[in-house]
Amino acid sequence: MAHQSKAEKLRTAGRLLAVCRQELAGMVRPGVTGLDLDRRAEEIITGLGGRPAFKGYRGYPASICVSPNRVVIHGIPNSTPFREGDLVSLDLGVEKDGFYADGAVTCPVGAAAPEYRRLMETTRRALELAIARVAPGVEIDELGRAIEAEVRSNGFDVVRSFCGHGIGRQLHQPPEIPNFASGNRFRLYAGLALAIEPMVNYKSGSVIILEDGWTVVTADGGYSAHFEETVLVTETGHEVVTDL
Ligand code: MF3
Ligand code: CO
Repeated sequence: MAHQSKAEKLRTAGRLLAVCRQELAGMVRPGVTGLDLDRRAEEIITGLGGRPAFKGYRGYPASICVSPNRVVIHGIPNSTPFREGDLVSLDLGVEKDGFYADGAVTCPVGAAAPEYRRLMETTRRALELAIARVAPGVEIDELGRAIEAEVRSNGFDVVRSFCGHGIGRQLHQPPEIPNFASGNRFRLYAGLALAIEPMVNYKSGSVIILEDGWTVVTADGGYSAHFEETVLVTETGHEVVTDL
């Protein structure tokens, strides 16, 4: 292609991510392992001309993050089979033609208990409410406020130690996007791309990092959900680039 705009390259990376995420989500069932998903993700992403952006990022050892149950984020795929009732978060990063997309989904293994279904639905809805507000001139604080209000009104708690972020030519770039009211008055502008990613815990939002230096787990052992989309700020509002 002679020339692709930044928006077009983000869309391309985003669509690749969405295709991969959908296939992986469809694979989640009892007996499947995180390593199965990791291998398939690498095949799909490289097969479509992309690169798994997490692999080697600050030394991260896999292509995707697989975070079951009390693991909030950055779970390293392993050979433990999923079991009925687990709640598994899948987080993917794709780089294509120098641009990045980042996206996550939480999937039930088999049938989720009603309270965990509510946890997932609340997290998804909190993300959608934040995305709906994205437009030029909007303050970053508004996004986190929307997320935190939705989460609290459902009796859950947001994780405060990790945030969403700007994205584009790098996986992580400024500005930081907290999932809570932060008082950050920074205003969004057209052309900025954001990875918005609420992490929501069933009980307390407190987390700890395991000795492997990656795995982030809830401090109280409760389950956690995580949804993420890459969103481009446009002149008229926004565009989710990680949609199918
Ligand atoms: N999606 C994750 C985030 O934005 C990135 C995972 S970091 C990696 O925090 F090291 F696992 F790649
Ligand atoms: Co991210």
